[in-house]
Amino acid sequence: AAIKKYQFDIVVSSVSRLCHAKPIVTVNGRFPGPTIYAREGDRLVVNVTNHAQYNMTIHWHGVKQLRNGWADGPAYITQCPIQSGSSYTYDFNVTGQQGTLWWHAHILWLRATVHGAIVVMPKQGVPYPFPQPYQEAELILGEWWNTDVEQVEKQGNLLGLAPNMSDAHTINGKPGPLFPCSEKHTYALEVESGKTYLLRIINAALNDDLFFAIAGHNLTVVEIDASYTKPFTTDAIVISPGQTTNVLLQANQSPGRYFMATRSFMDVPIPVDNKTATAILQYKGVPTTVLPATPRLPAPNDTAFVEAFNAKLRSLSPGNVPLSVDRRLFYTIGLGVDPCPSCVNGTRLAASLNNITFVMPQVALLQAHYYGVKGVFRLDFPDKPAAAFNYTGVPLTANLGTSLGTRLGTIAFNSTVELVLQDTNLLMVESHPFHLHGYNFFVVGQGIGNFDRSKDPAKFNLVDPPERNTVGVPTGGWTAIRFRADNPGVWFMHCHLEVHTSWGLKMAFVVENGNEPDESTLPPPKDLPTC
Ligand code: C2O
Repeated sequence: AAIKKYQFDIVVSSVSRLCHAKPIVTVNGRFPGPTIYAREGDRLVVNVTNHAQYNMTIHWHGVKQLRNGWADGPAYITQCPIQSGSSYTYDFNVTGQQGTLWWHAHILWLRATVHGAIVVMPKQGVPYPFPQPYQEAELILGEWWNTDVEQVEKQGNLLGLAPNMSDAHTINGKPGPLFPCSEKHTYALEVESGKTYLLRIINAALNDDLFFAIAGHNLTVVEIDASYTKPFTTDAIVISPGQTTNVLLQANQSPGRYFMATRSFMDVPIPVDNKTATAILQYKGVPTTVLPATPRLPAPNDTAFVEAFNAKLRSLSPGNVPLSVDRRLFYTIGLGVDPCPSCVNGTRLAASLNNITFVMPQVALLQAHYYGVKGVFRLDFPDKPAAAFNYTGVPLTANLGTSLGTRLGTIAFNSTVELVLQDTNLLMVESHPFHLHGYNFFVVGQGIGNFDRSKDPAKFNLVDPPERNTVGVPTGGWTAIRFRADNPGVWFMHCHLEVHTSWGLKMAFVVENGNEPDESTLPPPKDLPTC
């Protein structure tokens, strides 16, 4: 295994899109930021130096960080922020993982512009479990705001209003030629007729589930969240913020130019979606004057497509799916309204798990846990809501009043956990992509309506469930996941829609140390930032 070193300089750079130039926070002046390349088993040493006037942390989304939460990155969960003028070195191994992951800022909404790909190749000499591609490319799907992202965040968070939507989606930071001033901000992928390409697709958008398709071409899904899948062919994919999807693309159509496109999936679509980003699949030798063909994307509210797509995701060779469960957790997802004297309307939107809106601490939870500092958090997150109710009934008032708290769940080392996330039907209709730090989990079941403990577990897929780090909880439905708690530390779990995270749709687990010396959290690095 090799040691791969990277230098990340956090700098503010002026970037222009859609005829608007504005300063944005970047890594090394690049948007999106640099790709990190490694092979399975390598050690990554990334020194982050913060030259900007913002606090910063970087999260390596999907890297398990075995016993090494110090390198995980979520601000005030595993570390204090890297302050302006300071540095911190993230030092970690990519063990037992290969495929596409990504990195992003994990403080406020800065991940809007501070993100990039992580490509973990198999060990030297180990082939992919699918036909060797001729070439590979990363496609980072994102968003662009003409206004300042900080202002957008303030609107959603401090003022208690719904935040502005972004002005365009982007593919590798570029909106494509359908937008004004954007001819030169168009990503193009050149392909040779007859060859096969591996596309590593990442959804780095703040708040949008996305569809993606390429005109005239099918895509063969081979991997999700750095876990191989049984291959299946589709004309479009759906991908939630936080997720990655690898697809094989065969350049087997008549040589030409084809649009690739991405736009939102929403259960209740906004009247006009004018944010569709396009990029170009360019067959070698075809003149750039040829007009590109346009792809057919699923309709913006095509939930049937999404359900069918998710049902096709199966692990290629599932590891140890927990067949028995030591610990059952049932969390309701609520969106409601909380009083807020300082807000514009006197109220703010609040989100909760089991009616608890998570309050960010002032110091990092992992440090408080490691050193036994009292008074930072409580270890009493309830395993289920205080009382059962008709979660998806209408009208629903059972989760209107949320309580605030920095309350964590505690899990015994190496126990097997089943967590059912149940959406509730209040105020908003939106699916929630849930991300668990420090783990991959198996998605054993999903359904619409109320989870029924007497019937639904019988239908769980314990044979080849997809293994992920981020999973969608369908609107008015539920998702069941299982994992073995073999990674001690403090691990964040949250909705990866940034606006919901801000409203409190998050919590953290303390996974206790085991009894053996190699079953406890490693000591913190010397340069760990202090609060
Ligand atoms: Cu990709 Cu906690 O995040």
